[in-house]
Amino acid sequence: VERVFSGVQPTGNLHLGNYLGAIVNFVKLQQTHNCIYCVVDMHAITQGVDVWGGPAELARNTREVTAAFIASGIDPKKHIVFNQSQVSGHAELAWIFNCVARMGWLNRMTQFKDKAGKDREAASVGLYDYPVLMAADILVYRATHVPVGEDQKQHLELSRDIAQKFNNDFGDSIRGHGFNDGVFFPLPEPVITGPATRVMSLRDGTKKMSKSDASDNSRINLTDDADTIAAKIRKAKTDPEPLPSEEKGLEPRPEADNLVGIYAALSGRSKADVLGEFGGGQFSSFKNALVELCVEKLAPIASEMKRLVADPGHVDSILIDGAERAEAIAQETMNAAKDIVGFIRKK
Ligand code: TYM
Repeated sequence: VERVFSGVQPTGNLHLGNYLGAIVNFVKLQQTHNCIYCVVDMHAITQGVDVWGGPAELARNTREVTAAFIASGIDPKKHIVFNQSQVSGHAELAWIFNCVARMGWLNRMTQFKDKAGKDREAASVGLYDYPVLMAADILVYRATHVPVGEDQKQHLELSRDIAQKFNNDFGDSIRGHGFNDGVFFPLPEPVITGPATRVMSLRDGTKKMSKSDASDNSRINLTDDADTIAAKIRKAKTDPEPLPSEEKGLEPRPEADNLVGIYAALSGRSKADVLGEFGGGQFSSFKNALVELCVEKLAPIASEMKRLVADPGHVDSILIDGAERAEAIAQETMNAAKDIVGFIRKK
């Protein structure tokens, strides 16, 4: 059976990149798959407390991401929405995977290099191990499909390598436990689709839109009001040329490409189609249309998020209910995984 899993970190400033690169696809996949969407609070604490903001901020951000999921159209009754730390299987499977993954594999992870910066000795062990926990998140549900933005592609490849090596290392035991094809963990497939798999900064078309960018004008946050959205788009960097009428005209123009991609993703159209309408015209009129579209799509999400977070008890009850259902699936995987490895347990 096909199962979808994905996660979002509660580290503040959910932005248009998170929404178009990931959450929009989370919503779509509900129609065809059983989906598990996780607020990855254990991943959130891998950088310094100055980055994730401390306990009160973590709890607040966890509820905010949950609210964003629901406000965007994720149904927590039909599917599963919960926060990672409530299901112990994530950490347990990560330990087994720590003993499967190789240092050399982790040393190649570009996100670690970016986040650790120059002083790698001062990075937490958790930040280094981040992609292993991510593999455990996915595989503790034996999920087959993982919707993410382009930036997570390398981590997904690592998850596949870990699944494959576990299946190889424990092949005989896996078969001995009734998995006759020798496959206990499926190799999860990344789902990276749509015109906005990599949304770029509004200030610099060569940098990805990010929660951690010092300039708030570089991103549109899901909680921005209409005036803020309008101001940020009007200030967004562009070039002096009018918009091209064909997609290949966007190639040397990262800022124009980015804004057209955002318009396309928000309107559910292709970039070619958007250029068919706006190509040859000035940026200012395209920007006006983009402001209108952004506000139309994001304002209802922002106001629903506000309504939801005003009742933290209700949000928590959604996470607790989701965690119970997630736990039941994770427990089954962990029992089998422990038997396969040879860990003795109460039966
Ligand atoms: P996080 O919280 O950084 O981002 C959440 C999702 O948003 C996508 N994204 C973007 N997409 C397009 N353009 C952008 N500028 C942009 N910025 C972020 C990310 O690709 C991601 O899909 N490691 C994950 C969280 C995670 C996870 C998992 C994901 C933990 N365990 C298991 C999938 C499966 C992350 O950093 O997400």
